[in-house]
Amino acid sequence: MSHPLLQLEDFCVSYGAVEAVHHIELRVDAGEIVTVIGPNGAGKTTLLCAAMGLLPSRGRMLLDGNRMARISVEAMVARGVALVPEKRELFGEMSVEDNLLLGGFSRWWRGERDQRPRMKEVFGIFPRLEERRAQLASTLSGGERQMLAIGRALMARPRLLMLDEPSLGLAPRIVREVLQVVSSLRQHGVSVLLVEQNARAALQVADRAYVLEMGAVALQGPANELLHDRRIIDTYLGLGARAGEETARGVRS
Ligand SMILES: Nc1ncnc2c1ncn2[C@@H]1O[C@H](COP(=O)(O)OP(=O)(O)OP(=O)(O)O)[C@@H](O)[C@H]1O
Ligand SMILES: [Mg+2]
Repeated sequence: MSHPLLQLEDFCVSYGAVEAVHHIELRVDAGEIVTVIGPNGAGKTTLLCAAMGLLPSRGRMLLDGNRMARISVEAMVARGVALVPEKRELFGEMSVEDNLLLGGFSRWWRGERDQRPRMKEVFGIFPRLEERRAQLASTLSGGERQMLAIGRALMARPRLLMLDEPSLGLAPRIVREVLQVVSSLRQHGVSVLLVEQNARAALQVADRAYVLEMGAVALQGPANELLHDRRIIDTYLGLGARAGEETARGVRS
């Protein structure tokens, strides 16, 4: 039997004496897009940062069924995990190309001295970045910056890409564009753990979802089931979805 790519068991994260993430059980299988949705302050960013080794945690993390003795950023990168943080942390005064080269640094360090083939693949995923390869990152539009942040993470050839709110601050059309690319990453052998406040957009591209509320998993299941779950519709998808669903019910009955 194959093991999940990522598995968190009884995973807890605290800020000092205050526990922000409580006893999380979560898994991402190879080839899956899994989303964690939930309101402001639910603990989504905390969960991702701890899973990447940026914050201390308690509990267990397994990659491919092997327990990680110590969760550090270096160990996670070496095991093929990449994070695109909520604050994109691009180098504004550097070009698109140089930002991408920095994303490939961990591989360069391990002997892959020619980054051009990988950059070509990333440009294949984000043609817009190739058109703007010489442009300073600080002058990109919001959507292009998000693409660069994802492209930079992809330079490390991750097997698991963790994304913190890629839709943040983007117009709905750009959100769709970015998330379509995210869903296409499966074809490139990349699994995705997608943290989103934009529940509708996330559930539309994900295979499975976890709803995080006050640091704990309140609900989980296949994304298409949660899209039609009354609690999710009422709490996270708003009036539009509700009206739409009631219309659909009316048609059925
Ligand atoms: N550095 C910190 N020190 C103390 N408490 C923190 C710290 N960072 C976050 N918290 C608290 O932890 C809880 C979870 O925050 P977190 O940023 O993980 O939420 P989130 O789900 O990502 O929210 P958002 O959707 O607004 O990004 C919040 O109550 C927050 O105030
Ligand atoms: Mg957050």
